[in-house]
Amino acid sequence: MAEYRVGRYDYPGQLPGLDDELLPSIRETLLRGDYVLGAAVDRFEHAFASYLGARDAVGVNSGTDALILALHALGIGPGDEVITVANTFHASAQAVVRVGATPVLADCGPGDYLIDLEQAEAAITDRTRAVLVVHLFGQSVDMAAVHALAKRHDLLVLEDCAQAIGAYSGGVRVGTTSDAGCWSFAPSKNLAAAGDAGAISLGGADADRLAAVLRRLRHFGQDKQNEHRVVGFNSRLDTLQALVLGHKLPQLDEWTARRVAVAAEYRERLAGLPVSFQDGAGTGEHVYHLFQLRTERRDELLAHLREAGVDAVVRYPHPIHLQEAFAFLGHRRGDFPVAEDLAGTTLCLPLFPSMTADQVSLVCDGVREFFAR
Ligand SMILES: Cc1ncc(COP(=O)(O)O)c(C=O)c1O
Repeated sequence: MAEYRVGRYDYPGQLPGLDDELLPSIRETLLRGDYVLGAAVDRFEHAFASYLGARDAVGVNSGTDALILALHALGIGPGDEVITVANTFHASAQAVVRVGATPVLADCGPGDYLIDLEQAEAAITDRTRAVLVVHLFGQSVDMAAVHALAKRHDLLVLEDCAQAIGAYSGGVRVGTTSDAGCWSFAPSKNLAAAGDAGAISLGGADADRLAAVLRRLRHFGQDKQNEHRVVGFNSRLDTLQALVLGHKLPQLDEWTARRVAVAAEYRERLAGLPVSFQDGAGTGEHVYHLFQLRTERRDELLAHLREAGVDAVVRYPHPIHLQEAFAFLGHRRGDFPVAEDLAGTTLCLPLFPSMTADQVSLVCDGVREFFAR
């Protein structure tokens, strides 16, 4: 990202204690050979579950696999429908298809950009088994409302928490009240591994049984070496990634606070312009994985910012139902108008914890200059 004056990430900024703590522990592991499901995985799983306030957490090798293994462990498969949202990253809907079930989409709300629960409820059929909500961009879905809906229709609840680590809904952290919270620690995420990594958090009534099922599934379906009880996956959280994540986790809340402060500054300094933002309040607190700015002149503003050295980006330019991969669902333009409108009018301003005051000013000045022309 060297060509940008304000880039998208700052990896060195997320590695305090690199030389004194993290590298020695990686070195020690490299020499010792505890590579697969090593002690660091167990330690991180405990630390992460306790950070969330979840009953347990099971490390897997990506956020995508977290979704797939969770759906699989909950017995969702061919013939089943899972309700999710048109405004999300590909992986949420991809996972449903990967277990052989059908994603049934609902639009999102125009203010919070999150699943519209009235539409979700209207989409329920006698094949619906679960609702998969996505806490998109760092903002939490109202989990009390989701649970009420699920109870009315006897549905399982899964949360795609990939973008919302640390966010609260109704006073508790996301990923702690449903059948499964699915997490990504990909390098772009607020808690980032040095590669692919993910986890499933468990907080529902069946948490202990599900944790055991997931630990078996991620490890070739075996509880003991060479005793394969079910057909499984190879999807383990890597020991080296667990070391990286365990090293960073204690810093996370501080980093989130910094994200929230930068977001507040953006909102304040860009007030009065013909732009709007994703609702920041709600039932919880936004953790600003991505800061969305919405304007009818999105493409022009994007070009202007990039020209000015600001690495702004669009997340996501196409809603799920208009992606070629999901053509088989039979949707067309106009089916989910809010998601479609957001895809054409939003961009993400750079936001990372170590942003300097000068970098924030550069972004704000760039946006202000554009609208002053
Ligand atoms: C909302 C959402 N769900 C799922 C994923 C998949 O995570 P991963 O890239 O770790 O497979 C991501 C990130 O990539 C995401 O942003």
